[in-house]
This record gives sequence, structure tokens and C-alpha cells, in this order.
Amino acid sequence: MKNIREQENLHNKNILLRLDLNVPLRNGLITDSTRIEKILPIINFLIKKNSKIIIISHIGRPKGKINKDLSLKPICEYLEEKINKKIKLINENIFKLNKKNLFKDPKDQIIFLENIRFYDEEEKNDSNFSKHLAGLADLYVNDAFSCSHRAHASVCRITEFLPSFAGLQLETEINALKKVTSVIKKPITCIIGGSKISTKIGLIKSLIPKFDNVIIVGGMANNILNYKGKPIGKSIKEENCKTIIDEIFETSKKYSCLIYYPEDVLIGKNLNDNSLAKELSDVTDDDLILDIGIKTINKIKNIIEKSQTVLWNGPAGYFENPNFANGSYEIAKAIIQKNKDKSIYSVAGGGDTIALINQMNAIKDFNFVSTAGGAFLEYLEGKELPGIKALN
Ligand code: 3PG
Repeated sequence: MKNIREQENLHNKNILLRLDLNVPLRNGLITDSTRIEKILPIINFLIKKNSKIIIISHIGRPKGKINKDLSLKPICEYLEEKINKKIKLINENIFKLNKKNLFKDPKDQIIFLENIRFYDEEEKNDSNFSKHLAGLADLYVNDAFSCSHRAHASVCRITEFLPSFAGLQLETEINALKKVTSVIKKPITCIIGGSKISTKIGLIKSLIPKFDNVIIVGGMANNILNYKGKPIGKSIKEENCKTIIDEIFETSKKYSCLIYYPEDVLIGKNLNDNSLAKELSDVTDDDLILDIGIKTINKIKNIIEKSQTVLWNGPAGYFENPNFANGSYEIAKAIIQKNKDKSIYSVAGGGDTIALINQMNAIKDFNFVSTAGGAFLEYLEGKELPGIKALN
């Protein structure tokens, strides 16, 4: 991989910069800005080189449709303030843009293209779309490790049409994860939670041979509970997961990996509700499972206590509502405590997990915190990520 740092003559060159600014938003406000802070070095680097910067990012999953709630506007404004420089957000259809018109005003140095996932060509890794994007620039930089597991146009296909480089943050993340995979000590526990069930459930099977314990919490645990015949009310779950869960349990037997999932839960009737502790068998049709219960927390603490390495991706509950944040806080506290005693190597990853750890002001209490969630798990799995492969 060539790094943009080594490239000479960036002066006045149009750089197409793929970032992952998929930060958590609530009512249009950024609730955690870590992913933005992490890309400041590449922006400052390119500003210093007098490059013209065209920023591409996605936010959320608009599935090829324009969705005002998923506009990059708040992120663009935040970044503007952070670097004290005007940034132009371009809402015009990308196919109507051309290179000549992009930086007509010589004072413009940074522009933002609106959410790239408003175009269904993005997720289809479409060639024409990539070619058109490439036509706007002279060079391409991927500084979005956290979405390099997606074979999408602005991450992958684009590299066929422009000289392509790794960004500063992408390199930092890869080097750190390389180190993690080389220093790792057994017993290793991987905690997987969050709400992106479809992204992660398929990964668990291939992670099992590498770990001693896999703890499944958050939205994904609902699928396991459902598979085990437990009632989950109207909680989120993914359809058609029976075969993959069969395989998860078969593989765990083969590799003597413990799969642990909740044995008690906290429910609410809606996301803003108060929490109510329930045994699994008491969950009713109109309940939403939104956190793990105390028995589950204690079991997880026990497993962490016996581990030498803990890798954590995805919260244990709907922590955005403090009534359902306890499970995630308790997991974090158990890891932090062991980390302070220097008796564990701890790595956490993913946008929501970072937000949670930030709320506790505890980023420094983990050995490494990655901005990546799905990409982090796929990297651990040993997979070559499409965005990285494309840069190679
Ligand atoms: C993430 O938040 O992990 C990345 O931005 C990728 O998002 P995605 O899972 O919607 O592709």
C-alpha cells in the first residue's frame, strides 16, 4: 500500500478523500465525534500541501435514497468549526458535477459531497459511478479503515480509475491491529453486541476457532434467544438465521469455544421507557429486550476475570437511553479494572462502542480503541478487506 505521506507534488491537486464520518446522531446532533477527531491529521496534512480536497463519506444506511435525516450537513458544520475553514457542502447530483466547476472560487479548498449512500450505485460498487467520481480528481485517498470491509464504489472500484493511496488514520489502525493480533494471549474473549446483526452474525462462526469465549449481547443475542425457543417479544432480530446459528453452535463444539448469551434481560415497551428486569421466560409479546440483566452481567464479569485478552465490539444494550446502559457500563468497568491491574490486553472497536467508552472518559483505559466495528471483526477473522485489497 502506498501512503499519501510519501507522495510528492500534491500542490493544487484534487484529492478525492474517502472518510468514514458515520458518527452517531441524535435529532441532528452529533453525540460522539471521535471519528471526526481521528481524521483531522489527514485534513491538516492535505491543507498544508495546498491540495484541493473533495470529501466523500456515508452516514447510516439510506439504501440509495435521499434521506434528509442522514445528511452530512451537521458533520460538515462541525468540521468547519474544528479546522476554522469554510467547507462547501454540495447537494447537487454527483453526475452533474465536473472537475472544472468544483473549485471555481480559488478560495475554496475543501468540499463535501452529500451522503454517498444516497446513490444506489455506491453499494453496487458500480463502475460508471466510480469512473465519474474519479473524473473529479487527480488522486484518491482512503482514510476510512472502518468501512474498508465494504466492496462499495467509493471504497473499492474507484481505485481502478485513479492513483490510490492509504491515508494516515487507515495506516495507524492497520498497524495497531497487526500488533494486537501478534501479541494476543489466551484465554481470549470476544464480546460482540450492537444492533448490526446482519453484518456480524455471519462473522461469529469464523471467529470461533480463534477464541476461547464468544459472548453475544445486544441485538444479536435476540436471534440466539429466539433460536433457543425463548420469547423475545418485538425485539429486533434478523430473519433466516437458523442455519448460521446451527453452524455457530456446531463450530463452537468442534473448537471448544464457549458461546455465552444472556440469561436474563431488561425490557421496555418502547425505546424511551424505563427498564424492567425480567427472566427470559417472562418476556411478553409487546416487550423490547433493551439490555442484559444482572445474572448475565455477573457471568460476563466472571469470564472477563479469567481472560488474558478481551476484544469488544458493540454495546450490550440500547445505551442511548441511560435506563438501558447498565450492561454496557458494567462490561466496560470490568475490562477497565483488569486493565488497570495490567492483567488483561483490551481492545474495543466500533462507533457505538467508542461513544460509550467516551461517555465514561475511559478511552485511555483500553490498550487500543479502533474506530472500526465490522471492519475490525473482519480483520480479526483474518479476511482481506476489499478496500485494503483494492489499495494493494
Ligand atoms: C461502521 O459504522 O461500522 C461503518 O461506517 C460501516 O457502516 P455499515 O455497517 O453501514 O456499512
